[in-house]
Amino acid sequence: MGISTDAIHAGQEPDELTGAMAAPIYLASTFAQEELGKNKGYEYGRVQNPNRKALEKNIATLEKGKYGIAFSSGVAAIHSITSLLNPGDHVILTKDIYGGTYRLFNTIAKEKNLELTWIDLGNFENAEKALRTNTRMIYVETPSNPLLNLIDLKKTTDFARENDLISVADNTFMTPYFQNPLTFGIDVVLHSSSKYLGGHSDLIGGLVVTNKEEIEQKIRFVQKAVGAVPSPFDCWLFLRSVKTLAVRMERHNYNAGKIALYFKENFKNFKVYYPGLPEHPGYELAKKQMRGFGGVVSVDFGKMELVNNFIKKAKLFKLAESLAGVESMVNHSATMSHASMPKEEREALGITDTLLRISVGIEDVEDLIADIEQSLE
Ligand SMILES: Cc1ncc(COP(=O)(O)O)c(C=O)c1O
Repeated sequence: MGISTDAIHAGQEPDELTGAMAAPIYLASTFAQEELGKNKGYEYGRVQNPNRKALEKNIATLEKGKYGIAFSSGVAAIHSITSLLNPGDHVILTKDIYGGTYRLFNTIAKEKNLELTWIDLGNFENAEKALRTNTRMIYVETPSNPLLNLIDLKKTTDFARENDLISVADNTFMTPYFQNPLTFGIDVVLHSSSKYLGGHSDLIGGLVVTNKEEIEQKIRFVQKAVGAVPSPFDCWLFLRSVKTLAVRMERHNYNAGKIALYFKENFKNFKVYYPGLPEHPGYELAKKQMRGFGGVVSVDFGKMELVNNFIKKAKLFKLAESLAGVESMVNHSATMSHASMPKEEREALGITDTLLRISVGIEDVEDLIADIEQSLE
């Protein structure tokens, strides 16, 4: 089946009892069992829930994987993969990454005495140089938040296989609609479903998808033992929202392409980051490993005055943490999504104080352009 069909139908069969097209929400914390050791596959809400099971089937299908495991947030999903590491293991991570991932690895994961090397994975020679005898995992985010740098998924897989590493890719920005890291041989795909998969700025969630049973078992154990699980209502919201993933992503992609071009052509002093622009260093790779360029455009305005004007005067672009809702949003990465990254490191990457990450919504693009125009007049 195609992904638009799968998004609507995988895990989304009508309710067996009533035929209801919208599944009922199973709020039960516990389930009656027939006799000792005999039940209908559900015992306790933290461990299993029908809405969560449906969501997990849906995301596994969309990501072309065998197993989907749902968490209560993207960072809880990221944290769960540290269970694949032993104390003293070394992890190679891409430098240019979501600030919360940076914080998680540098604080909580470090308590496990993990050794971390943050490098620019635009060049795999850096990965070769970073390799140690105890290297166990390579972690990438592509395109990256907020600079939209790309990492070659095939090279990541080759490097991981040659060196017996677990490869992990955060696919939040592309969603399975535009990119399927598992098909390149990546071992673990991560998502913040608080972003495009949820898509309406009304749910927080995280997902892990893998084809490897050994990995699934470990992550499933964390899900049960730590219990950072999404509520039945959040699972239901996810399933309702994911049905329109294809049409939303097409529109995000279309609008973002127009906005990127608009900035490029009308504000020559601004630096525009968008993988759909031919001058973007990842443009050729983007065409190879993605089926679209996504809905995020980052723009370095160069002057704080212009940043402040845009934030204050724009009516449709709301200043907000997060991204990927149907409504357009703007994020000041330096003080918001990437505040936990030290200033020197941020600036060395290009996350300057004058950079705005623009999450282009699915409004009429003419209205969005008119809004930018009036705010920067
Ligand atoms: C790329 C990426 N991964 C993970 C996360 C964390 O997800 P959550 O906020 O759902 O915990 C985010 C949040 O912004 C993100 O942008």
